[in-house]
Amino acid sequence: MKKILITGGAGFIGSHVVRLFVNKYPDYQIYNLDKLTYAGNLENLKDIESRSNYTFIRGDIVDGEFIQALFKRHQFDGVIHLAAESHVDRSISNPMEFIYTNIVGTVNLLNAAREIWNEIYSNKRFYHISTDEVYGSLGDSGFFTESTPYDPHSPYSASKASSDHLVRAYHDTFGMPTVISNCSNNYGPFQFPEKLLPLFIHNIRNNRPLPVYGKGLNIRDWLYVEDHARAIDLIYHDGKLGNTYNIGGNNEWKNIDLITKLCEIMDNKLGRQKGESAKLITYVKDRAGHDLRYAIDSSKLQRALGWEPSLVFEEGLEKTVDWYLANQEWLDNVTSGEYQKYYTAQYAER
Ligand code: NAD
Ligand code: DAU
Repeated sequence: MKKILITGGAGFIGSHVVRLFVNKYPDYQIYNLDKLTYAGNLENLKDIESRSNYTFIRGDIVDGEFIQALFKRHQFDGVIHLAAESHVDRSISNPMEFIYTNIVGTVNLLNAAREIWNEIYSNKRFYHISTDEVYGSLGDSGFFTESTPYDPHSPYSASKASSDHLVRAYHDTFGMPTVISNCSNNYGPFQFPEKLLPLFIHNIRNNRPLPVYGKGLNIRDWLYVEDHARAIDLIYHDGKLGNTYNIGGNNEWKNIDLITKLCEIMDNKLGRQKGESAKLITYVKDRAGHDLRYAIDSSKLQRALGWEPSLVFEEGLEKTVDWYLANQEWLDNVTSGEYQKYYTAQYAER
């Protein structure tokens, strides 16, 4: 039985990856290692938690001794590494957590894998999940390809860029069997409501202001989270070692257009008059170092592994809104307690 360690499996994307692997590969033993920070939530995995091929381990990837002991005990065959501090705004107010988890945590995992695999790499694989933000910001035209030079602007993206470099360095220097993917903005169920879409769905439902940074002209490329999980499955199994794969939705939206679309859907779902939710739009102080545009060229992945996004965006957005409205208890649970302090501090001066 193959033993696969998935880190950050209680988070947004990680929970979709864990669910996919547990369901699709009954002959794999899936270990989900997660610290359960504010962003980690075992409720995200309720439907698979009692499956015999699934084990949850609570732990911190920054704790090198713990990670070494864990790898020695379980002798993992593969690692899919998603654990990270992931929110740009939090990296601006508190960069150090990003340095520890995203950089030191990644190196701890690389070191532990290197030690147990001891240069015998057949059927072993270390897959590092990264972001398009490492490439920086685009102007009006062009796309990020796998050879676009790195140019990160936030402590978050700089920490992810650093971890990508280290993963590549372990491949080139020690021959480690690594692969990396860089994905665009994900959306879908179980995303923590500090990120644009779940935050705005939550605020619209509660008639709270929608804080649009700057003029709302920044552009993001949106991909449904299950399509990302499918790409991760393909790359984990068939991606070429030492390679990088870009993953994107080919689906660019200016923030204000996306928010207007979301308001229309919410008016409809909540039985409000057309235009009512859009009245909540409030322009606030811009994010520092705010990247203007991200757009991914994922043709390498499409060509090499036959992947493509499965959902039309409008369909995915509506499905996502339906999920949050049907799971208000999940949203209410994660927005109680500490969340209130975060929200007040983050949006106070805006
Ligand atoms: P998330 O914040 O929802 O989840 C992160 C998970 O990591 C949480 O469960 C958290 O508890 C866990 N974690 C954090 N620090 C840890 C530590 N020190 N030890 C162990 N576990 C820890 O993040 P997400 O949006 O699901 O992103 C997952 C990965 O995908 C990240 O590496 C992120 O950079 C990358 N990514 C995200 C997006 C996106 O749009 N969300 C796009 C591209 C890439
Ligand atoms: O591109 C991939 C990245 O996408 C991932 O690596 C990150 O982990 C993920 O958080 C996401 O980063 P963004 O900064 O693009 O996502 P966020 O949801 O925070 O913001 C999306 C856009 O909306 C961005 O231009 C900022 C803007 N925004 C965001 C928030 C939270 C607002 O205008 N108001 C807000 O309150």
